[in-house]
Amino acid sequence: MPGKNHRRPMMVANWKMHKTAAQAAEFLLRLRKLRDDNHTADGCFVVVAPPFPALDTAAGAVRGADIALAGQNLHWESEGAFTGEVSGGMLAAAGCTYVIVGHSERRLGSCETDEQVHKKVRAALAAQLTPIVCVGETEQQRSDNEIELILRYQFERAFWGMSEQELRGSVLAYEPVWAIGTGNTAPPDVAEGTHRFLRRCAADIFGPEAAAGLTILYGGSVHPGNIKALLEQPDVDGGLVGAASLDSDSFFALIQAANHAAARGASTKM
Ligand code: PGA
Repeated sequence: MPGKNHRRPMMVANWKMHKTAAQAAEFLLRLRKLRDDNHTADGCFVVVAPPFPALDTAAGAVRGADIALAGQNLHWESEGAFTGEVSGGMLAAAGCTYVIVGHSERRLGSCETDEQVHKKVRAALAAQLTPIVCVGETEQQRSDNEIELILRYQFERAFWGMSEQELRGSVLAYEPVWAIGTGNTAPPDVAEGTHRFLRRCAADIFGPEAAAGLTILYGGSVHPGNIKALLEQPDVDGGLVGAASLDSDSFFALIQAANHAAARGASTKM
């Protein structure tokens, strides 16, 4: 498989249930200023996933700034009597180009099933959104040596019956549940081994070329102190970041690390 230098790194801020519209605007204005002051030519994709009520304000705050917006969830139907839900079309109309699907906090906290994750991936693609599809094993599954079994199952169910084109329109995020919000970041070599395994799962179904083009993010206690070592791994293409994305300076440091990784990729390509 070709190396990662043709995959542009990506840094995604998953704010979860944090920040009002006003706080989102404040963060984004500060982030824009940091990038301007540092003359940061963004080599990486930057994506921010605010809570729904802050999306509209965030869309205004990122205008012209090369920062994409993501929803944190969507329903698989395009409209209907689904109290509390939002559709892909609504997210797109609010300015999103990405949506997080199947986060473990939804799988475990809201009983989201693999079948629902699959329908959400389909709905996202139908609404022209790039789904960021999360997979990851629990601590128990890890100690039972079921990591590969679980990840292959989650991957295959999420992308069941989809085309190579649909995979190309998606991003995968490996988020070991035991690493989320715990400070127990997966060691870089462990993340690399798992990402390589996921890429093989993708290759088995969609072929080596589509798999080589798939962006695979790592998520779980990413912070400015550990991102560099993670991004140095050939199959780690970026981060899906919770806590360390809530502060604009910290998120900017992560973006800079991804920009450096992009520059390294570009130079090895020449
Ligand atoms: P964390 O969350 O960075 O706070 O561990 C990551 C995530 O859940 O996406």
